[in-house]
Amino acid sequence: MLRVAIILGSTRPGRNGEAVAKWVYDIAGKRTDAEFEYVDIKDYNLPLLDEPNSALMRQYTKEHTKTWSAKIDSFDAYVFVTAEYNHGIPGALKNAIDFLYNEWNNKVAAFVSYGGVGGVRSVEQLRLVMAELQVATVRAQVALSLYIDFENFTKFNPAPYHEKEVNSMLDQVMAWGSAMKALRTKKLSDIMTS
Ligand SMILES: Cc1cc2nc3c(=O)[nH]c(=O)nc-3n(C[C@H](O)[C@H](O)[C@H](O)COP(=O)(O)O)c2cc1C
Repeated sequence: MLRVAIILGSTRPGRNGEAVAKWVYDIAGKRTDAEFEYVDIKDYNLPLLDEPNSALMRQYTKEHTKTWSAKIDSFDAYVFVTAEYNHGIPGALKNAIDFLYNEWNNKVAAFVSYGGVGGVRSVEQLRLVMAELQVATVRAQVALSLYIDFENFTKFNPAPYHEKEVNSMLDQVMAWGSAMKALRTKKLSDIMTS
């Protein structure tokens, strides 16, 4: 069974992201085709990147990096729940991504965003970042409007049709997640037999 992380990418007090990530996690929890885990980057207390070596070398010197690495390594796919800050990726999320490299490789990512225009500019940037990390990003995504899906920009009250969008997105995550898992297994067996 695939293991899928629902990653909450904002950390500020009073963040809207928490309600959104919990909503995604609740919808995902009704499915039986994967194991889902809620991952809040705030819980990992990552400072601004403080590893001396490139993440490609996977030679971590800090306990917080080792803990974060083990957690991210344990998944086959990721659903990033992201805000849009100044038309881009929230710094805390980009920082958490940059701590690692191999752990993300040859896996799958999907996106749920929120903002004035659905947070889509943040997701466009995340897709570029994922390309460098060799992560396959599914097309289906969920964009939530601060004007429509929140009351007073703070109380999350999503339009009902978004639940179907979450499931369509997760369907793509399952299909590609299985394919990428097979790829990772094949790569390993190739190495073992060469
Ligand atoms: C630093 C900062 C920059 C923001 N920039 C944008 C922006 O460029 N576009 C947008 O739609 N919303 C922007 N917003 C509003 C956020 O979409 C909104 O506050 C959202 O709730 C932030 O996510 P969070 O509550 O999980 O932190 C910004 C908010 C913050 C705190």
